Amino acid sequence: MSKQENHIELELVRASLLIFWNAPTTAQVTTEAQPTKVSEGKDVLLLVHNLPQNVVGYIWYKGQIMDLHHYITAYTIDTETIIFGPVYSGREKIYSNASLLIQNVTQNDTGSYTIQIIKRGDETKGVTGNFTLYRE
Ligand SMILES: *[C@@H]1O[C@H](CO)[C@@H](O)[C@H](O)[C@H]1NC(C)=O
Ligand SMILES: *[C@@H]1O[C@H](CO)[C@@H](O)[C@H](O)[C@H]1NC(C)=O
Ligand SMILES: *[C@@H]1O[C@H](CO)[C@@H](O)[C@H](O)[C@H]1NC(C)=O
Ligand SMILES: *[C@@H]1O[C@H](CO)[C@@H](O)[C@H](O)[C@H]1NC(C)=O
Repeated sequence: MSKQENHIELELVRASLLIFWNAPTTAQVTTEAQPTKVSEGKDVLLLVHNLPQNVVGYIWYKGQIMDLHHYITAYTIDTETIIFGPVYSGREKIYSNASLLIQNVTQNDTGSYTIQIIKRGDETKGVTGNFTLYRE
C-alpha cells in the first residue's frame, strides 16, 4: 500500500471513529508494560487500564508522535476490525480491550508507545507507555 493510500485509510479510520458524540469523562487512563523489562525474543504486553466509556477505537503508535509515520495498528470496536499501519511489523497484536502484545521483541522495539483512544464525539486522548530491553 502506498503512503498516500495509507494516509487516506488513516483519515478514514479517524473520520469513521469521530462521527459519534457523547459527554466527556475524566477517568485517568494508564498504560503498563508487562513485564517492564523484557529479554530479546520474548513477548511484552502493553496493558491499558481505566479505559473510558464510549470508546469507539484505539490507535497505537511507536514513540510519542501520533501521526501516520508512527502508526502501528488500530482497532475499531463497533466493527471489531483491526487495521495495520506503516510501522506494523507483523509481531504486534491489538486486543479488543486496547492492550497491545508485541511478540519476539527486538532491540528496535524498545522505547515508548502511545495509544490514542478515540471516544464518541471528537474527543481523543493520547497515553504513552514504554518498556526497556534487558541488555544480555
Ligand atoms: C516468534 O519467534 C518464533 C521463533 O523464532 C517463531 O516461530 C514465531 O513465528 C515468531 N512469531 C512472530 C509473531 O513473529
Ligand atoms: C486484555 O486482553 C489480553 C488478551 O486477552 C489480556 O492478556 C489482558 O490482561 C487484558 N488487559 C486488561 C487490562 O484486562
Ligand atoms: C532496526 O531498525 C533499523 C533502522 O530502521 C533497521 O535498519 C534494522 O534492520 C532494524 N533491526 C531489526 C533487528 O529489526
Ligand atoms: C516509562 O514508564 C515508566 C513506568 O510507567 C515511567 O515511570 C517512566 O517515566 C517512563 N519513561 C519514559 C521515558 O517514558
